[in-house]
Amino acid sequence: MSHHETIGEGLARRGISRRALLRYTAWLASLMALPPTASRVMAETLAGQPRQPVIWLSFQECTGCTESLTRSFSPTLEDLIFDLISLDYHETLMAASGAPAEAALEASREENRGKYVLVVDGSVATGLEGAYSTNAGKTNLATLKDLAADAAAVIGVGTCAAYGGLPMADPNPTGAKAIADIVKDKPVVNIPGCPPIPEAIAGTVAYFVTFGKLPDLDHLNRPLAFFGDSIHDRCYRRTFYDQGKFAKAFDDEGARKGWCLYELGCKGPVTWNACATLKWNGGTSFPIQSGHGCIGCSEPDFWDRGGIYQPLSAVVMGKPALVGGAAVVAGAAAGTASAVLARKRKAAAEASVQKAKEGTQE
Ligand code: SF4
Ligand code: SF4
Ligand code: F3S
Repeated sequence: MSHHETIGEGLARRGISRRALLRYTAWLASLMALPPTASRVMAETLAGQPRQPVIWLSFQECTGCTESLTRSFSPTLEDLIFDLISLDYHETLMAASGAPAEAALEASREENRGKYVLVVDGSVATGLEGAYSTNAGKTNLATLKDLAADAAAVIGVGTCAAYGGLPMADPNPTGAKAIADIVKDKPVVNIPGCPPIPEAIAGTVAYFVTFGKLPDLDHLNRPLAFFGDSIHDRCYRRTFYDQGKFAKAFDDEGARKGWCLYELGCKGPVTWNACATLKWNGGTSFPIQSGHGCIGCSEPDFWDRGGIYQPLSAVVMGKPALVGGAAVVAGAAAGTASAVLARKRKAAAEASVQKAKEGTQE
C-alpha cells in the first residue's frame, strides 16, 4: 500500500467497508468515554488520514508483547490497527533482514522525520554503555536516543519497556532501564502489562492518528482510558470481596463457587489495567476468571515484589499494606479516585472531539 494512500482508500481497496471502520471507532469511543457523536467524527478523520508511520524497536524482551498484538484466532476489529499504521520497521514481523531491513528503517526516518511514532518493547541495557544488547552493530541505548530524537512520540509497550520489567529484576546484571528513563525530551506513553492488552496498544495508536495527540495519561504515563480503573474496581468477584467470602485454596469450595481470590494472593486492588473489562483473546477470559489471582503484571517492580501467592496484607507493594477492613477502605478510596479520573477523562475527551470537529470543518 502506498504511504500516500489515505486510510479510507486503503480500506476500500481491501474490501473493508466504512461500516467496519465505524464499528471500530464506536468501540474505541466507548472505551475512551467519548460522547456518542465522537465515533462518526473519528471515522471521518481516520478515513481521510494517511497511515501513521510506525517504527517498532525490540530491545531486552521475550517477544510476548508482539505476540499479544498479532495473535488472534480470527480477524477482529483490533486487526484494523494494521490498516491504520504503516509498520515500516519491526524486526520480528518484517520479511527483510540485515542490511535491507536497516535501509528500510533509515528510509522511513528520512521520509517521516518528526512524524513517526516510535514503539519500543523491552527494556534498555545501560551497563557497559549498552553493550549487553546490540543490533546492527549499535547498542539499543544508542538506537533509542537516535530514533527518539526524530519521533513525534514514543510508546513503551509492555512492562519491560514501561518500567524495566523482568530484565531489571534484582540483581539487574545489564543495568536495564525503562524507556522513559532514557527519553526525556519527547512524550513517552506507557502501555504496561506482561504482556499488554492488544486493544490498549491499538487504541492508543488509533487515538493518536485520529486526534494528532496522545490521550490523557496518569502519573505513570499510562492512558487513563485503559488504566484509569484498578482490576479490583471492575472485577466480577468484587461482590464476594465485599461480603468477605474468600477462597482459601485453589481447590476448595470457595474457589469452586467463584469467591474472591484475595487470600490466594490476588493483587487486583493495587493493579491498574483493563483486564477485567477488555479481557484477553477477543474478550474470552482473564487471569481471575480462569481461577488465578492477578499478579500485578502491569505495575512497576512486580517481579521483585514477589509474594505472588501471599495476600496483599502480607506483602509490601511500595504502598501501605492492605489489612482486613483497611482493604475495603482503600478499595473505596480507589473507587472514588477512579470516578474523579473518569470525569476528568470525559471532559478532556469531549474537548478533543470538539477540536477534531473544528478541524474537519476548516
Ligand atoms: Fe515479555 Fe512481558 Fe517483557 Fe513483554 S513485558 S517483553 S511479555 S517479559
Ligand atoms: Fe477480584 Fe482480586 Fe479484588 Fe477479589 S481481590 S475482588 S479476585 S480483584
Ligand atoms: Fe496482568 Fe493482572 Fe491483568 S496479572 S494480565 S494485570 S489481571
